[in-house]
Amino acid sequence: MAEPSPASASSDSSTLSWKKRRLPTVASLRRAALQGKGEESGAPATVAGWLAGRRSSGRLLFLNFRDGSGFAQVVVFRKAVSSEAFEAARHCPLESAVEIRGAAFAEPRAPGGMELRATDFRVIHAAEPYPITPKEHGASFLLDRRHLWLRSRRQHALLRIRDEVLFAFREYLRDQGFICGDTPIFTPNACEGTTTLFETQYFDRHAYLSQSGQLYNEAIAMSVGRTYCLGPTFRAEKSKTRRHLIEFWMLEPEVAFAELGEIVELAEGLICHAVDRVLTNRAAELATLDRDPERLRRIQPPFPRITYDQAAARLAEKGTDFTLGDDFGAPDETALTEGMDRPLVVTHFPAAIKAFYMEPAPGRPDRVLGMDILAPEGYGEIVGGGQRIHDHDLLRERVREHGLPEEAFGWYLDLRRFGSVPHSGFGLGIERFVAWMSGISHLREAIPFPRTLYRLSP
Ligand code: 4AD
Ligand code: MG
Repeated sequence: MAEPSPASASSDSSTLSWKKRRLPTVASLRRAALQGKGEESGAPATVAGWLAGRRSSGRLLFLNFRDGSGFAQVVVFRKAVSSEAFEAARHCPLESAVEIRGAAFAEPRAPGGMELRATDFRVIHAAEPYPITPKEHGASFLLDRRHLWLRSRRQHALLRIRDEVLFAFREYLRDQGFICGDTPIFTPNACEGTTTLFETQYFDRHAYLSQSGQLYNEAIAMSVGRTYCLGPTFRAEKSKTRRHLIEFWMLEPEVAFAELGEIVELAEGLICHAVDRVLTNRAAELATLDRDPERLRRIQPPFPRITYDQAAARLAEKGTDFTLGDDFGAPDETALTEGMDRPLVVTHFPAAIKAFYMEPAPGRPDRVLGMDILAPEGYGEIVGGGQRIHDHDLLRERVREHGLPEEAFGWYLDLRRFGSVPHSGFGLGIERFVAWMSGISHLREAIPFPRTLYRLSP
């Protein structure tokens, strides 16, 4: 622990305002100040938070203050506060917890249009020297200190955009008659192939961490019709790219009686709703991240749809070294969406490169009713899904062909024995979506504590 600063030593903590009542926030003060006319009429208020930055020019200190709801410029004028408060504001280390009394005024020159003029400043907890300084730090330095890095203005914005996206997805699905059914993380089955399974001990048995909630969603859909799950999924992918995480969150809707076209439309509506919510409610955060909102405004339905074979032909025209029959790599996805302002829907993939459960295309048994949605600007696949096999015997054949243990899939095959109907669904990768909305280049900043090939801490 650092030595307490003179101010915290002298202040009786029981008199600190944050202990007594709910304080106004930077966000609420900004709203009030911006609604006023900007005349010198700010009502006195106390806020509690952290000292995020400081500049001084003689008798004036400009503090960057963060209280969780946002950041505010605080001006401490030597003559407006006690000398003890001025010294505390001038010297207390960055990231100290502080309480500031003052009045908020509209100030066009201040970031966010509001400025808090201090009349008192107190230290709640003096920080030790803060390791993250305004100079440029490398990614690994920052990731080692992810627990502190989250406090930066940029990470604050990303956390809020992620929250907005998750809320918008839930809101949209609820409006469309979906209910959230949760799916297990410990599973005995592989959903997306056996090469990326995380095996773990389950008492005296082996279990896997879930790659996808889909198989369980299919069971829930046969009960409630329209369901979704939203949670962490795990892939032991040895690929070290900016688009892969080992633990990532997925939103997975599943719809009984729906065919491929219907869930493409569902995905389109869902994506556009979330884009709209981010634009409406997170404009300030987009500005913090230098994300041009015009790019997001152009994401409108309908999204163009092409088949895998058309996509392959397009890649051949572009002269990429893609081979027909292969899955698209990141460079292929980027080439396919080049110059596009909205996502591209690709359907009818070769059965050989897709999961065992995909419904064959009518009249084209070598193609399946799968769909991927590729985001523009190089973000690549954000959605993967399709129509599921609903015929019992065909599904059992596929389980065998894929070398999957039939015992573990008994319950899944059961769904095709009792009132089986065509059904479809998809998975949307939350971090890929958030990265795209935010315009960031690497998925690791789209989740508070990223798990990547070489990183398990903090
Ligand atoms: O295409 P995927 O593997 O599809 C499924 O898991 C289906 N069972 C989902 C379903 O139909 N219910 O994954 C879906 C999405 C991808 O489009 C991508 O956005 C994301 O999940 N994703 C990843 N995100 C980050 N890191 C990874 N390693 C990811 N793998 C997939
Ligand atoms: Mg996929």
